[in-house]
Amino acid sequence: MQIVVMGAGYVGLVSAACFAEFGHKVTCIDQDAKRIARLNQGEIPIFEPGLDELVAKNVERGTLQFGAGLLPALTSADAVFIAVGTPTRRGDGHADLSFVYTAAEEIARNLQRYTVVITKSTVPVGTCREITKVMRKANLKAEFDVCSNPEFLREGSAINDFMRPDRVIIGCETERASAVIQALYRPLYLIETPMVITAPETAEMIKYASNAFLATKITFINEIADLCEKTGADVQIVAKGMGLDGRIGRKFLHAGPGYGGSCFPKDAIALVRTAQDKGAPLRLVEATIDINRQRKKNMAMRVMDACDGSVRGKSIAVLGLTFKPNTDDMRDSVSLDIIPALQRAGAVIRAYDPAGMEEAKTLLKDVVWCNGPFEAMQGADAAVLLTEWNEFRALDIQRMKAALKQPVMVDLRNVYKPEDMERAGFRYVSIGR
Ligand code: UGA
Repeated sequence: MQIVVMGAGYVGLVSAACFAEFGHKVTCIDQDAKRIARLNQGEIPIFEPGLDELVAKNVERGTLQFGAGLLPALTSADAVFIAVGTPTRRGDGHADLSFVYTAAEEIARNLQRYTVVITKSTVPVGTCREITKVMRKANLKAEFDVCSNPEFLREGSAINDFMRPDRVIIGCETERASAVIQALYRPLYLIETPMVITAPETAEMIKYASNAFLATKITFINEIADLCEKTGADVQIVAKGMGLDGRIGRKFLHAGPGYGGSCFPKDAIALVRTAQDKGAPLRLVEATIDINRQRKKNMAMRVMDACDGSVRGKSIAVLGLTFKPNTDDMRDSVSLDIIPALQRAGAVIRAYDPAGMEEAKTLLKDVVWCNGPFEAMQGADAAVLLTEWNEFRALDIQRMKAALKQPVMVDLRNVYKPEDMERAGFRYVSIGR
């Protein structure tokens, strides 16, 4: 089948490459001509393991191409995916849909034959219907259906999440459109992926509810972790014990410094705003947002406590800056709270991240940028493990001790075992243990 993907951002690029890998003929377009030029030169503008090979392979076999203009590709397209950005609108926390509606109008004006228009961007409930109106207004004669097909991929494991999803959600109202989308996902039938075919509003809600639920689940275990610290319980074993209950499930129960990234914070706020507007407030999600925000701010205190109450004049090594491993994404990362807070308290920060430093340099000031974890720890008064990159999971404990001026480690991802660190003579602070 022939597909156009509008938007060569995270979701757009991964979806385009994966649909091409399924054997469809995909054209990925973006209004940013420079981005398209880079893609045409084989340069992938985002960090995602395996994406460069997948793009190169499909460009080579002719199933994937990049372009700046919609028209040529649209002429023969069976489906157009809208995968443009939906940032948080300034001031009110709602998702900014201007890019989505502009894309919809452009599609409507250029449609040549029956086409299924599918939102992949995370859009508020009701957006599919709005898109239908916008398109109808732009072109009365156009033949189309607008459907919702939310994406559940995670940064860092996006290709696997796309190719082996837990489910595919299809929100559409006609058999005709549903048949097109099911055909696009036919390869997933072979691995018996459950498909939920429902109304667009329901599909849109599934996406927001899923992200808000996961953010709440993380926040729940984070608060339990704080209580574990006061009571002598170990949150990792509590999480394991809870997770073995099939009704709870073991995933997304890792206590940490608070969730970040481009999705959970933005989507939770957008959902809460919609709920308030509709007069059906989501108080649990509101509490989640507040608790998480405060938690990220409080993390600097943990470091100060581990340094005898003050970091003034001390040098702190920060290992990991991105909001999670295997990405260069710094959006809403806890590092953006903790590093400025420690600097305000008088600390000198020595930081290293395997992929996020380029972006971090634009967001953080006065940091000593280092080339590896041991360089960061050299002569520092304490080390803070912020992101659980594989590279930080098995550092030689004696070597860390030798590099640091004081053997102090604040491990916000519970990577190390307290008994190993204490045996080596570390003052070791982790989460909920
Ligand atoms: C999230 C969802 O997991 C995806 O299903 C969804 O498609 C995506 O948002 C989106 O809406 O586009 P992502 O933001 O890439 O994916 O990252 P996650 O792996 O979900 O992690 C989010 C944050 O939660 C990170 O800061 C991570 O460190 C934190 N987290 C995650 C925890 O603190 N504990 C956990 O147990 C899991």
